[in-house]
Amino acid sequence: SAHQWQAPSATDSRGPCPGLNTLANHGFLPRNGSNITIPVVLNAINDGFNFQPINLLRIGAKLGLLTTDAEDSFSLNDLALHGTLEHDASLSRNDYALGDNVHFNETVFTTLANSNPGVDYYNITSAAQVMEQRLTEDKIVNPTLINTVKELSVRIVESGFYLSVMGNVTTGVAPKNFVQIFFREERLPLEEGWERPEVPIDQDSFDTLLSEITNVTTWAPSGEVICPWIRLQP
Ligand code: HEM
Ligand code: MG
Repeated sequence: SAHQWQAPSATDSRGPCPGLNTLANHGFLPRNGSNITIPVVLNAINDGFNFQPINLLRIGAKLGLLTTDAEDSFSLNDLALHGTLEHDASLSRNDYALGDNVHFNETVFTTLANSNPGVDYYNITSAAQVMEQRLTEDKIVNPTLINTVKELSVRIVESGFYLSVMGNVTTGVAPKNFVQIFFREERLPLEEGWERPEVPIDQDSFDTLLSEITNVTTWAPSGEVICPWIRLQP
């Protein structure tokens, strides 16, 4: 059917965002991953994930436009531009300075995969611990690590994304199996029992989840870049 999962072809554009890659693999976004406008991406997120076009997504989409010289669209690979949205200490990709900040990396993902031992779900506490651990790991291996409040904010949002879209925005609980398939295969785990959230993820519920993650996150800026900055163009 129209939204069957299909692996990308060699010429399809994919990038550092497992969420948008998944939407392209299911045909909610153009399968070629190119010519993505703001309405196209906001509609795809709503259709695929029942995630309303809240301000935060609108801003994310607008920042996406800064990653390319095109005037009103981006490709999924454009989003890899280091310093606009793409940042260090990701959950499933390596740092830009360490080589490949685009493709899924099982070694990097081990930290999240193995978190919350003894139970079959991830939650707010485990998500915050994973963020902390990824940073600790990166401080050892990446002398150019950028870790300002901007990167922290984006990383909190991304933890909120997998907990809400693969799990439940209100409880912040997401089955491990769903989250792992989402990251590793960039596929909606429909056969495994995942369903598009019945209740829309909206501004209120997502903001609440983000503050709960923030509350249990311990964090301090580090490295030579102290002021938050946003890269404005390629
Ligand atoms: C990461 C872009 C919406 C899930 C990223 C990254 C970019 C990006 C550039 C790479 C950051 C990094 O890790 O260095 C966007 C844009 C969006 C969008 C432009 C729409 C406006 C979504 C949605 C989801 C999602 C709706 C829902 C599942 C994620 C996750 C990560 C991520 C979980 C973290 C990946 C990691 O740390 O390895 N996104 N994204 N994104 N995105 Fe998206
Ligand atoms: Mg990154």
